[in-house]
Amino acid sequence: MSANPTTPRFAIAIDGPAASGKSTLARELAKRLGLVMVNSGAMYRAVTWQALQENIDPLDSDAVIAMLDRVHIHCGEIGMTSTCTIDGIDPGEALRSEAINANVSAISAIPEVRNRLVNLQRDYLDHTSIIMEGRDIGSVVFPDTPFKIYIDADEEVRAARRAHVGEVDSVSKRDAADSERITAPLKIADGAVVLDTSHHSIESGVAAAIEILKQQGLPVEMAGSYHPET
Ligand code: DC
Repeated sequence: MSANPTTPRFAIAIDGPAASGKSTLARELAKRLGLVMVNSGAMYRAVTWQALQENIDPLDSDAVIAMLDRVHIHCGEIGMTSTCTIDGIDPGEALRSEAINANVSAISAIPEVRNRLVNLQRDYLDHTSIIMEGRDIGSVVFPDTPFKIYIDADEEVRAARRAHVGEVDSVSKRDAADSERITAPLKIADGAVVLDTSHHSIESGVAAAIEILKQQGLPVEMAGSYHPET
């Protein structure tokens, strides 16, 4: 559908706290619906990575903004997955490091950082339909999209998921910072339907999400393309 130039482009917004399962769900939905999957958290992580590379204090917003004025951030996609480079470099796995996990909330609370990244996020719709996951996608980035899901999961389940992939990440601390910040805090966007993935497998979570999207008016021919793998 995204490849058809006569079809209006649209965004599916997936928001939720850390380790709620939104990345996995968004990736699977993107695959099955034929959409580009955009990981907006990777953009905040890339800016954090660059700040740490330059020994900039993430709490020093003036220094972070001056850094943004110096570097070139490019967001695009390879195949159906978003990419983000800073001065041509993709930090790759380094984006998931403990240092990034510990500092990304401070960087993403800076309004000017958000302004710039939100513009890059919106630019995707200039050339493709997308499924974008993050914290403020349904509330700020694409408030007018009818397709919004807020993914949640019990705190113990989320902490266990992070530990399972061997990541050191203080999930509850990051969630508190992301929910309490003044600009674009994590919240359930107007019109979003909450999907709790605590007791869902990936397959049943995807099926539940597609049901929600259908109810929100997702074109039936796209939703019909989903066939659970056995
Ligand atoms: O989705 P993630 O855990 O990779 O996101 C990393 C951080 O980036 C998250 O703690 C807060 C920030 N973020 C944000 O503020 N807004 C978004 N749309 C996505 C992520």
